[in-house]
Amino acid sequence: MADIEKLYRRGAPKTLPPTDDPIRLTDPGACLLSVLFWSDMHLSDTFPDRCSVLRAAALDAKNAKDPVDVLTFGGDLTDFGKKSERDLLVRILKDAGTYGHIFPVYGNHDIRFRRFSATVRGFDDLCDALEPGFRPGKLWYAHETAGAKLLIMGSDRTKFEESFMSEEQFSWLRSRLDDARDKRIPALVVQHQPLQSTHNLPYAWDTPVPGAGSVGQQSERLRTLLARYRDVFYITGHLHRGFNINTYEEVGPTHCVCLPSTGLINKDSVYSEPGLGMLVEVYRDRVLFRPRDFLHGRFVQEYEKIYPLEAAKE
Ligand SMILES: [Fe+2]
Repeated sequence: MADIEKLYRRGAPKTLPPTDDPIRLTDPGACLLSVLFWSDMHLSDTFPDRCSVLRAAALDAKNAKDPVDVLTFGGDLTDFGKKSERDLLVRILKDAGTYGHIFPVYGNHDIRFRRFSATVRGFDDLCDALEPGFRPGKLWYAHETAGAKLLIMGSDRTKFEESFMSEEQFSWLRSRLDDARDKRIPALVVQHQPLQSTHNLPYAWDTPVPGAGSVGQQSERLRTLLARYRDVFYITGHLHRGFNINTYEEVGPTHCVCLPSTGLINKDSVYSEPGLGMLVEVYRDRVLFRPRDFLHGRFVQEYEKIYPLEAAKE
């Protein structure tokens, strides 16, 4: 059995993040839901640098001056979906302080070398460790508040690079989006892989092969479903690109946002260092995406984006 404390100590932060530009909400009194996103941490037994980055990011998260409701992820929490990697993540997250909720999201690296039943068992154990008593029994679930819905998606079978969404997951997503529409609130839909031909795919996946680097064969079906609604955000990771011109993309009425990697070097961008993520703030009339460099404890204002909400305009 892996010695988690040893892995944790071996991955001590190289430098501590400065504390002069801490995480603060733009308007804490009016914020309906705040969510901190990390993505593609790829925690590993063999690369202690990833643990170092995450431990520094956790210190920056702990230094937040306003309470943030949720800490969640764009998938690829681990490199191989191993128990030791999940246990190390739980250990690191203890340093991040108290969040209302910490919600795991799986990516292809978390599932690709396991029997699916073992993947779901491990996911339940991880959810339970972070949210005692919470065992969704599948990789998708919802966190629903009066002001917004956070809809976590995930594969329903073992896949190597893509995702497979069951009929049950599609009808669950449709019912949750119907409900958000009826309540006139936005939905943050989170899944590891982007839609096909978005965020400069397939080239952002270092290949000209159509469809590569995306959610896969069900991409068009998912895009069509999301396009039936307004004020929907499809938030993904997977590409390991820093903040750049392809971070945000409008796909019909759907606002697509691709998160950079928090654990690894990001490719092909001015913002290539690891430790990147986002703070998302939902208000009655707008949603803010605020890129953050957790390693250096600062917001990257150049890539902030404000989306006015359509439902609030009427
Ligand atoms: Fe990844």
